[in-house]
Amino acid sequence: MRQFVVVGHEVPAAAEEISLEDLPGAGRLDVLCRCVNSAFFLSHDLRESVRVHLVVDGYVVRFEGSELRRLNPDERSTGALIRDALAARENAIGAMEANPSPGVYVGSGDLGSTLEALGEDHTVIQLHEAGDPIAGIDRPSKPAFVLSDHHSFTEAEEDLLEEHAETRVSVGPKPLHADHAITVAHNYLDTDGYAEY
Ligand SMILES: C[S@@+](CC[C@H](N)C(=O)[O-])C[C@H]1O[C@@H](n2cnc3c(N)ncnc32)[C@H](O)[C@@H]1O
Repeated sequence: MRQFVVVGHEVPAAAEEISLEDLPGAGRLDVLCRCVNSAFFLSHDLRESVRVHLVVDGYVVRFEGSELRRLNPDERSTGALIRDALAARENAIGAMEANPSPGVYVGSGDLGSTLEALGEDHTVIQLHEAGDPIAGIDRPSKPAFVLSDHHSFTEAEEDLLEEHAETRVSVGPKPLHADHAITVAHNYLDTDGYAEY
């Protein structure tokens, strides 16, 4: 299982503030949509052994690859899944998430609670352009990559990552968009470290 955590710093939890006609205007929800699509889509196929956590304004929207039924490659429909999940956030009770669509869950949470849960059985890896080269790390069987959206991680988030992440890793010398960094991380693992094609 590969997991990806993406922090959306400006996406509102209030679904009524999200217009599918203007995903960038909803706190750059378009960035999160592209991250979800990069994490799951192959050409004409979907990666089932992937989980994505979107950290948004006190809630976490979780996508479960093995259960997803309504994910399509266009950003707008992914935006609709996220908006509908946030609209169902009041149905989450305590630790029990709401499940408004197959493979899509929403519950209360933040980066700290997400990293704490992941750290129990996954290797938490911060993706950062200034990190150690990915080619130099031992390839974990259960990686959980943590990315930011179009903003840098805040100081408080960096502190949490310091506490929970095993390492900070770069996928290349150039600063990339978060969705592109996800594609490179997948490619690195798919090829067993660029060794098998
Ligand atoms: C658009 S970047 C964030 C830009 C932000 N202004 C900053 O400087 O951190 C989005 C995310 O993609 C990931 N990322 C971008 N370039 C990367 C690289 N070369 N290696 C690893 N991760 C990268 C990081 O997680 C980053 O937070």
